[in-house]
Amino acid sequence: YWFRWLSQQGTPRLVLRTQARRGDPFARLMGGPDGIADPYPLIEELRGRGRIVRTSLSWATFDHELCRAVLRDPRFGVRTPESFDIPKPLRLLKGRTPMPPNPVDPPSMLVIDPPEHTAMRKPVASAFTPRAIAKLRDRVETVTEELLDALPSGGSADLIASFASQVPIAIISEMLGFPDSDRARFLAWGDLATPLLDVGISWRAHHRAMRAMEVMDDYFDGHIARLRREPGDDILSTLVTAGELDDYALKATASLLMGAGFETTVNLIGNGVVQLLSHPDQLARLREEPELWPNAIEEVLRIDSPVQTTARTALADMELDGKQLREGNTLVLSLAGANRDPKVFPDPTRFDVARPNAKDHLSFSNGVHACLGASLARMEGVYALRALFERFPDLRLDGEPRRRSLFTLHGYERMPVRLGRRA
Ligand code: HEM
Repeated sequence: YWFRWLSQQGTPRLVLRTQARRGDPFARLMGGPDGIADPYPLIEELRGRGRIVRTSLSWATFDHELCRAVLRDPRFGVRTPESFDIPKPLRLLKGRTPMPPNPVDPPSMLVIDPPEHTAMRKPVASAFTPRAIAKLRDRVETVTEELLDALPSGGSADLIASFASQVPIAIISEMLGFPDSDRARFLAWGDLATPLLDVGISWRAHHRAMRAMEVMDDYFDGHIARLRREPGDDILSTLVTAGELDDYALKATASLLMGAGFETTVNLIGNGVVQLLSHPDQLARLREEPELWPNAIEEVLRIDSPVQTTARTALADMELDGKQLREGNTLVLSLAGANRDPKVFPDPTRFDVARPNAKDHLSFSNGVHACLGASLARMEGVYALRALFERFPDLRLDGEPRRRSLFTLHGYERMPVRLGRRA
């Protein structure tokens, strides 16, 4: 995979590191320590430079209206990682490396355009309609309660490992028909694979991710063979039985659903805990008015977006907001920036669980690639956070929570807490 890393990650890594050292805010946002710890001052600095800014690697926008318009604009396609400003000969190297099926290479629906995208998304979409997800409500509630029962009343815990990651992994594993005993493996593979969403990752991180995808590939082979013999009532069984996707596409879809199903929602739950504990007045309001919980989840998604950025590629030369974009140019869309655009969200840094238009955030993206799991994530967020604060009303942080070393995904990897007495 060395060629692949060189062609896709090597040049952006060099550019980002050099520029970050010179203090360039975009490079620091996408590849520096402050982009992980606190991206928001950098986002505001870049917003101040205009609605679209030219950066060392691409164009970028932090503007809500433009992000939304581009996500819905058929003149833009999904970004292929090699479309950042990379010399042409290096791009050619990429095609020579056969990859294990994974979420960030075609035919994963995340990185292909219509009409192929439509064909990959449609067979899966019926399992994620709001009505289909509503049927999972009891299951989400039971899983959440069981996890809370297992936490030591009056004791301490790492809330990410023991709760925030466990709710989504349990639900998506069940939806895909994987046995409970394999959840720990998925958590480990997920942690190794998520850096692939970032730009300019190290050769070691890239290699580790690819090795994890290889092992996962073997695992999926065995699993799919089992489902062919004995299909269940899970999503993968339905896809296997329908026979529309070949094995490579099935495995790419399975790895995408698995990763997307928990690597993002864990951030929603973790970020929500920190927001609520840092704003006791808002938590008190939720205790008084529990009907505000769904809106509070939208506000958590808005103020600390679990997926900070996505990107699109211009499919033709065009003018956008007075700038001349060339075919193949990449435009980074800061979802986190759009969510704090003061033109749409007055006083954007204020965390307000009753904010009337909180749900206008772009944390689930928009357009044809809008998050397929949004209803599920919302439901898990509401149940998990509400039940946690009801069962442990005196919950407190017990030291600084540690951010994940990722740029695109934004959340915590460790969150020591004192639980207090169980109510
Ligand atoms: C796509 C965010 C949870 C499945 C996306 C995208 C975003 C996103 C931003 C689109 C990226 C783009 O436009 O380039 C989130 C957040 C979540 C979450 C913030 C939790 C808080 C989930 C869950 C699932 C899921 C629980 C369920 C399996 C997917 C899939 C796609 C997707 C399959 C690809 C859709 C497509 O390309 O057509 N998600 N997601 N997500 N998400 Fe989620």
